[in-house]
Amino acid sequence: MSADRVIIFDTTLRDGEQAPGAAMTVSEKVQLARHLARLGVDVIEAGFPVSSPGQFDAVRRIVQEVEGPVICALARAKKEDIEAAGKALVGGKKTRIHTFIATSDIHLESKFADARYGSTIEEKRETVLRMAVDAVHQARIYTKDVEFSAEDAGRTAIPYLCRVVAAVIEAGATTINIPDTTGYCISDEYGALISQVMDGVGRPEGVVFSTHCHDDLGLAVANSLSGVQAGARQVECTINGIGERAGNAALEEIVMALNVRRDHMNLETGIQPAQLMATSRLVSTFTGFPVQPNKAIVGANAFAHEAGIHQDGVLKNRATYEIMRAEDVGQEAESIRLGRHSGRHGLFSRLERLGIPVAPEEKAAIYEQFVALADRKKEIHDSDLFTLFHYEQTEMNTPLYKLEHFHVTVGSGMEPEATVRVRDLHNDTVMEEKASGDGPIDALYRAIDHAVNEGHDLVNYSIRSVSEGADAYGEVNVLIGLGGPLFAGKASSTDVIEASAQAYMNALNSLAAFRLDKESIDFVGSGIMQAFDSPKDQ
Ligand code: KIV
Ligand code: ZN
Repeated sequence: MSADRVIIFDTTLRDGEQAPGAAMTVSEKVQLARHLARLGVDVIEAGFPVSSPGQFDAVRRIVQEVEGPVICALARAKKEDIEAAGKALVGGKKTRIHTFIATSDIHLESKFADARYGSTIEEKRETVLRMAVDAVHQARIYTKDVEFSAEDAGRTAIPYLCRVVAAVIEAGATTINIPDTTGYCISDEYGALISQVMDGVGRPEGVVFSTHCHDDLGLAVANSLSGVQAGARQVECTINGIGERAGNAALEEIVMALNVRRDHMNLETGIQPAQLMATSRLVSTFTGFPVQPNKAIVGANAFAHEAGIHQDGVLKNRATYEIMRAEDVGQEAESIRLGRHSGRHGLFSRLERLGIPVAPEEKAAIYEQFVALADRKKEIHDSDLFTLFHYEQTEMNTPLYKLEHFHVTVGSGMEPEATVRVRDLHNDTVMEEKASGDGPIDALYRAIDHAVNEGHDLVNYSIRSVSEGADAYGEVNVLIGLGGPLFAGKASSTDVIEASAQAYMNALNSLAAFRLDKESIDFVGSGIMQAFDSPKDQ
């Protein structure tokens, strides 16, 4: 019997990016979207255009530059949101507007507390139903492909949920998403919810039902699979499972579960599994979120056999302890070692295999950077290439401040001291400052603070090795705040002081850009729910 197709809706760029500290630049988002197209996802949720000019821009650029998948924009059930989504999608060949509104009593009581939505829960439910229908009608003006989500469907009374779903289908919604927004459902319960809603609205022809599961109880993937077994034919998921709080269902796990257990579920996707590893690395590099070694499918240990009895079994027959092969998901061993003697062909074929796009006009510069790195590092691993590529690509297009020079002195029995020279690129002025601190990084950051004079708190500083060897790249992630919005900065270098300085400058530049950008709403860092949840806003 031929298998049914499950639509893979990737929301790494929207729900994934809502993970605190996971913010990506517009250029990173476009690169990732290209990679998602290559991976074979059916729909890319590219962002939430009304929430900030940066989000609007990211969606617009992805629509213009990425071919293949449907490009989707998120919008609350509000006129200005749908208008912004429609505008961001203009000119796209395959576009979708995804509009949503909360339907559970707890959301209605808290987010729609204002009397203009009604004074009883029944009145509020009627208001929300009308808002949902109006939103779908409005979205249909921009595109025929309209998705509706009943936020917190997992905790919504089923008869009311069915009424809302029937009404939005009548209004023209073609995909119905049933989110378990809080990750509350248990798998059999979520599957039952999907079939009850589908039955409740008479399983209409041409309407796709979708899962959207969060991982608060570690059940996001299991619940999504339960949903498709119950009849859903779209799964919303993110690479590496990143997303709000504990994250979303991990795309790579869903896809490989459907793939490996096709005998059981008889379902297929359009994903090219060999691209999974490269996509996972790209997301980890862009967000600064490491992938845990024991992570299913894409973790470094996912195919490593340690126990002697396992090693012996695998040598005799791989199927004894392996249900899929490392190479099936792109976890191939590096066959050719790259180093200072490697030529252009070796480098560019490796970059191609890793899914790192290089335009012909960039080749000479990239090769030069590779040779410079090979002079500093004995052996170049795939992880170095990801980092080098990322490091070169993610500098802000229009930074306000540029760190022209720094010098740090540190030694036993002396207080660390740092000197910096920072250029203000708007006013073309140069500030030179000196400071001492509890350690070299503290001294460096104090000196930069004196030079830049942007009031803020350092919320988090972390450093990790992102490639192999004693001369590995160190990646630094910095989070600074203003008592609300958070600004992330990251940078990598084989010199960790240099990486620390650059990451801090990147965070300061985002903060400075935010200060200048009067149209931005409180979006950054702690998630778009801030923007959703204000009752006066709804
Ligand atoms: O979790 C959720 O409910 C969402 C909606 C916006 C679909 O992300
Ligand atoms: Zn979500």
